[in-house]
Amino acid sequence: MLDKLSEIEKSALDALESVQDASSLDAWRVAHLGRSSPLMTVFSELGKLSKEERPTVGQAANRVKVALEAALAEKTESVKRSALERSLNEGKLDVTLPGRPIHRGRLHPSTQQLRRVLAILAEMGFQVYTSREVETDEINFQLLNFPPHHPARDMQDTLYIEAGERGENPILLRTHTSPGQIHAMREFAAMNPKDPPPIRIALPGMCFRAEQITARSEVQFNQVEGLAVGKGITFSDLKGTLIEFAHRMFGQNARTRFRASYFPFTEPSAEMDVECFVCGGKGCAVCKNSGWLEILGSGMVHPTVLQNGGYDPKIYSGFAWGMGPERQLMLRYKIEDIRYFWGNDIRFLEQF
Ligand code: DAH
Repeated sequence: MLDKLSEIEKSALDALESVQDASSLDAWRVAHLGRSSPLMTVFSELGKLSKEERPTVGQAANRVKVALEAALAEKTESVKRSALERSLNEGKLDVTLPGRPIHRGRLHPSTQQLRRVLAILAEMGFQVYTSREVETDEINFQLLNFPPHHPARDMQDTLYIEAGERGENPILLRTHTSPGQIHAMREFAAMNPKDPPPIRIALPGMCFRAEQITARSEVQFNQVEGLAVGKGITFSDLKGTLIEFAHRMFGQNARTRFRASYFPFTEPSAEMDVECFVCGGKGCAVCKNSGWLEILGSGMVHPTVLQNGGYDPKIYSGFAWGMGPERQLMLRYKIEDIRYFWGNDIRFLEQF
C-alpha cells in the first residue's frame, strides 16, 4: 500500500511537470486530487485495511496529499507568471509612437474677463452677490424707479416669460443686473431693519434684451454691477472707486473722464470714459476718432431706490455702476462682432 502511495505521488508530480496553462492545470487537479483520483480512492478504502496498517497508510496518504497540494499551489503561481510575461511580450509598448493630442479646455473669454473684473473689485473690498436671471417687472423696473410706461423702458427692450394682463406683474428675463441691487439691499436690511449694515458688493451675471442681433447688439450679454451703500457716501467716493478700478483694469496711466447722463435709478448719473487704449487718445476707428471709450454707467443711488431696498435715504446714501465685460473685451482686442461671443466657434474661443 505504501509503495502504491509513492507510485501515486511520483506519477502525479511527473504529470505536473508538463502542465503549461491554466486549463491543463485544472485537469491535473481533477485527475490527481479530485474525488475519484487514485489518492482519494486510497482514503476511501482505508476502512478496508487492518487495524495495524490503517494509521501508517493514513499518515502516508495525508503526507502525499499535502505534498501534491503544495506542488499545485506552486505550479499555479508559475503558470500565472508566465501567462503575464507572455501577454507583456505580445502587447509590447512602442514608446517611440507619437502620443494622441489632448485637447485642453479653457474658460470662455467672458468668464475670464468677469474673473479679472471681480478679482480687482475683491481687492477693493467688493464681495460677489449673485441674483436670479428670471425677474418680475416690479424688481427689474418698478422698484428701480421705472414706472409702468416710463419712456426710459425703451432703453431696454424686454424678453417676457409671461406677459400677464394689464396691471399685472409680468415675469421677464432681467434686462440688466440692477435688480440685484433691490434683492441685495432687502437681504442686508433684513439682518437689522432698524440700523441696516453697509453694503459693498459686485453683482455679475447674464442679462437679456429683445434686440435685433447685429455685429453691435446681442440678445444676451454679461454685466457687472457695483453697489456701495452706507452713511456719508458721496459722489467723490464713486469717482475715487471707479477711477481706481480703471487704473487697475486698464493701466495706472489710463486717463478717465465723467460725463453727465441719465438713469432712472441714480441721481445724479454719469458715464465714465477711459482714454482710448488702442490709439492712446489720438483718435482711431475703435474710439471713432473721439480718443475716448465709454466703459460704464454710474450714479448716486436714487433715494426712491434706497427706500425700496429698506434703507432710509435721510440716513443712507450710496453709489452704483454697471459695466459690460464683453464690451471691455471688444475694445481691448478690437473684436468687431459681438456675435462671436455666443457663436461657439472654436477658432474664436481658442484665441483667449
Ligand atoms: N443698468 C444700466 C444698463 O443696463 C447700467 C447702469 C447704469 C447700472 C448706472 C448702474 C448705474 O448701477 O448706476 O444700462
